[in-house]
Amino acid sequence: MPGDKSISHRAILFGALAEGETRVTGILDAEDVHSTRRAVVRLGAAIREEGAEVVVTPAEALREPDDVIDCGNSGTSLRLLAGVLAGRPGLSVLTGDASLRRRPVRRVVEPLRLMGADLTARDGDRVPPLVIRGRPLTGARHRLQVASAQVKSAILLAGLGASGETVVTEPERSRDHTERMLRGMGVPVRVDGLTVSVTPSRPRGTRVDVPGDISSAAFFLCAAAGLPGSEVTVRNMGTNPTRTGLLDVLRAMGADLRLEREREVAGEPRADVTVRGGPLRATEIGGEIIPRLIDELPVLMVLATQATGRTVIRDARELRVKESDRLAAMGETLAAAGARVELFEDGCAIDGPTRLGPVTVRTRLDHRIAMSMAVAQLFAAAPVVLDDVACVATSFPSFFTLLDALCGVAR
Ligand code: S3P
Repeated sequence: MPGDKSISHRAILFGALAEGETRVTGILDAEDVHSTRRAVVRLGAAIREEGAEVVVTPAEALREPDDVIDCGNSGTSLRLLAGVLAGRPGLSVLTGDASLRRRPVRRVVEPLRLMGADLTARDGDRVPPLVIRGRPLTGARHRLQVASAQVKSAILLAGLGASGETVVTEPERSRDHTERMLRGMGVPVRVDGLTVSVTPSRPRGTRVDVPGDISSAAFFLCAAAGLPGSEVTVRNMGTNPTRTGLLDVLRAMGADLRLEREREVAGEPRADVTVRGGPLRATEIGGEIIPRLIDELPVLMVLATQATGRTVIRDARELRVKESDRLAAMGETLAAAGARVELFEDGCAIDGPTRLGPVTVRTRLDHRIAMSMAVAQLFAAAPVVLDDVACVATSFPSFFTLLDALCGVAR
């Protein structure tokens, strides 16, 4: 599997802020991470490749970017950079593609303003472009309305350069890669239940080994789980407990799932994960598990069409503000393919099993919609046609090659 996207972004960005070099192995080579790489180079860091390693050399101090920073499709780049740039001198403008320019930024603007930051965004601070006039920040206490690792990370990164203590409390635990990596870089990060705090500190360059991305593996794990006779093993897959909601759901659906060689490297747990196909039953997905599988819900919606009974997903309103409105996109598309889907404001109910029929999919600049519906093709009796698959380069450029290779083995 390609390297974990969330961890890859952080290795580049934190490496650019650190004192001394950061050496990264297993980094994701895909468009979203390229956006972060380009951004930190514009801010004065240097990145070179040495064999299998990507080496980040920080600038003495980040410089004012000489042009607008284009984050492409990447919400993580834009939101984390907002936290970094808010407290440094200079003017920055962050923007992105048509998908990113529809995604909410008030969730970072408001907490950063509370720390004294000067940020303005389009349409009443709702969406990018985001204009940042860097200025000295003061630590503050934040209580987030949504569990978001991007928002939490933006605040913590701002906190590293602010005076005093910065404290963030989330309603549920979101992925904790920032906390783990900053600790690995010598930053004292305190975690107490759902509260994380930092005081001013500069990370130290380190070595990062990026595990395989569970969010990319999800497409193959779900494909195998739903196709009796299939078996897929993903080696060195990240199994950070803040990310493994998918595995819990697969187990609840009755999937045959095995974890081997469980270990921790560079602060991140990982394992070799094998799934075998078999009959699946419906399940209920909601509450604290949602942030632990938020990016896997589109493909889980596909898998739900193959399970016996009514799968219900709740508390997943956040799906509506991802690279596309993923609830609408998946709900409408699966319904068009003949699935029995009822959409709610915060989730859906899917009755299965259903042999899917032909459908033409609008992928909406959303890599996970494209890949989820490519998996749906495996459960369909007729062609699933995707209108645009360039978007898979966001997180998984080799997706179709790998899918073809695995289906070739199956044939
Ligand atoms: C990410 C956090 C999640 C996730 C996104 C990557 C991160 O977003 O959906 O793909 O790397 O921090 P939110 O934190 O906004 O939920």
